[in-house]
Amino acid sequence: MTIDLAVIGGSGLYNFPGLANASRHAIDTPFGAASGDVVTGDFAGRKVAFLARHGESHTVPPHRVNYRANLWALHSLGARRVIGVNAVGGIRGDMGPRVIVVPDQIIDYTHGRYTSFCDVEGAEVRHIDFSEPYTESLRRELINAAGTAGIAVIDGGCYGATQGPRLETRAEIARMKRDGCDLVGMTGMPEAVLARELALDYACLALVANFAAGCGDEAEISIEEIFAHLAAATAEVPRILEVLLK
Ligand code: HPA
Repeated sequence: MTIDLAVIGGSGLYNFPGLANASRHAIDTPFGAASGDVVTGDFAGRKVAFLARHGESHTVPPHRVNYRANLWALHSLGARRVIGVNAVGGIRGDMGPRVIVVPDQIIDYTHGRYTSFCDVEGAEVRHIDFSEPYTESLRRELINAAGTAGIAVIDGGCYGATQGPRLETRAEIARMKRDGCDLVGMTGMPEAVLARELALDYACLALVANFAAGCGDEAEISIEEIFAHLAAATAEVPRILEVLLK
């Protein structure tokens, strides 16, 4: 099958609005089950594949997502370009709730996740280049599409990937800020590196749901607020992708 674009939906994005003629694919992978069925269909005159990273009823926590199976499933269906939509907390002052960022760097603080397809007995060990963790041409397409759609996005930023599912302490975020992180999220890695191992083009649409711990005015981060901000930012995603696909 030719897939023009695959989208991995994060928190708040469990199906692809406007997908016509949808069909579901339960894909068996050598790495086990993906987070759910891959749904393919037509959008903006193109073939799109969609996968809900946490499952369609949000039952898979970030540290238990089978990132390898998810990427493998999309690749085996014929996807060659993948956009990861990720909910994040903003660390940088201009990355407050509802801001959309297309990051250009990653620092990985996760642990205990399978981060490579060569993590299998007998597999050839490969050391892939990851200097630029996202595909620049796809980043540009996202940024240009958002511009054409009249949706503001910030070009660039460093995504710090944490283990979750808990949010971070103020001290952890202060350290991440010193490290150079602009955003914090729980699912950016190992998704990006696994995409690179499969030679998929991959870019991230990071939707800011809240200021990270200690970065905003509130003493505590409210989950209700996170989901309200996320819903607002998520509503912009199909419009960006529609222009990108045209
Ligand atoms: N931290 C980590 N992941 C997140 C956050 C956060 O503050 N908000 C949304 N995803």
